[in-house]
Amino acid sequence: MKILVIGSGGREHALCRKLAESPSVKQLYCAPGNGGTQEIAENLPIQTDDIQGLLQFAEDQGIDLTVVGPELPLVHGITDAFTARGLRIFGPNQKAAQLEGSKHFTKVFLEEHGVPTARYHRYEDPDEAIGGLEDFRFPVVVKADGLCAGKGVIICPDRGAAEKAIREILVDRVFGEEGRSLILEEYLVGFEASVFCIVSKGRLNFFESAKDYKQIGEGDSGPNTGGVGCFSPNHLLKPNHLAQIREEIIPSIEKGLLSDGLLYDGVLFIGFMVTEEGPKVLEFNVRFGDPETQVLLPRLKSDLLDILWKSTEGTLKEEDIVFSNQTALTVILVSGGYPGSYPTGYPIFGLQEIPQSEDLYLIHSGTKAENDQYLTAGGRVLCLTALGANLEECRSTVYANIDKIRFENSYFRKDIGEIRLH
Ligand code: AMP
Ligand code: GLY
Repeated sequence: MKILVIGSGGREHALCRKLAESPSVKQLYCAPGNGGTQEIAENLPIQTDDIQGLLQFAEDQGIDLTVVGPELPLVHGITDAFTARGLRIFGPNQKAAQLEGSKHFTKVFLEEHGVPTARYHRYEDPDEAIGGLEDFRFPVVVKADGLCAGKGVIICPDRGAAEKAIREILVDRVFGEEGRSLILEEYLVGFEASVFCIVSKGRLNFFESAKDYKQIGEGDSGPNTGGVGCFSPNHLLKPNHLAQIREEIIPSIEKGLLSDGLLYDGVLFIGFMVTEEGPKVLEFNVRFGDPETQVLLPRLKSDLLDILWKSTEGTLKEEDIVFSNQTALTVILVSGGYPGSYPTGYPIFGLQEIPQSEDLYLIHSGTKAENDQYLTAGGRVLCLTALGANLEECRSTVYANIDKIRFENSYFRKDIGEIRLH
């Protein structure tokens, strides 16, 4: 089969690696890909937002299945465009992609279907939003409605910060049209957990949990990033939490998807805050996570192509998804300055010193290959992932090797996998 993966990050390199293991995959393309994907797939000079270009390529080459990595093409309707031309694609249509593309859409969905979530109000008018602060205690969470490249959620410790965030979104329009409305949301206390399901015609199949490290600094300090470390499974989720998620929350979401006609094939990535009252849904994403994919797929024993294919056929069952009991942990090497501005184009040294094995994987995020040399090409550059019996074993494998990789101004967190409840 001919498979096309769309995207250019660590998630897409991990997807390509796993797909390449499938005996049915005869040709693998990645658009546009990175320095890692070009070792196992053919990188294409087509950007992820060029839906027409991707469609043309898939038609011309007779691609059997397209797998969409990032959210933007999904929110822009890539799935509708492909299916209208009879092409098979793994990812939600534009309607269902609102579960990631609009915070308000998600909150209405959650409330209508009785899924536990934080209390909220929606506003378009800045004065009304400021007035609405009366209904919340501080800290309060201010969220621009649309997709804001991970920057649209502002946790405000006091009234001054909340008023500033409201004005920036609704008056200064710092997120443009994505901030045409906002929600004020109750601040939840607990720990976060990411839970993944593979959706097949609106039916949810549990696909394991992970714990993402979002902040750039050790001890969860500094600004939020796309994620700079991760492990799976999320050991903080106790059997009672997992039981509530699997037996109550996932079935309620599934019922909601079916009754609202959100019958998509793809991923539902559920972001939870696990509070003293139990798990509450913070957000949905409708795609695999980055870096969660880099820890989920090394643990997956089943054939990934088989899972994605059955999802798009509507025949996927939970028995088709088998994970090992091992733990996987990844630490991300980033360009100094990330998530702010940073230079790129630095040569990367030492990759050949990493002993790649069944238990240690090097995944490329922002790299490119030029003249037999890898160069940095993004904020998140490389992910070193270990598989092991437990978190400690994974941590020692990763941290014993990560210093071998060198590039100008590189940085990584040294506390990934240290459990801290706060
Ligand atoms: P989101 O994009 O909605 O996941 O928000 C990004 C991050 O903001 C989450 O991963 C949480 O760390 C934090 N966050 C979002 N909503 C809340 C909330 N209601 N209470 C506490 N933290 C939140
Ligand atoms: N790591 C969080 C995300 O992929 O959205």
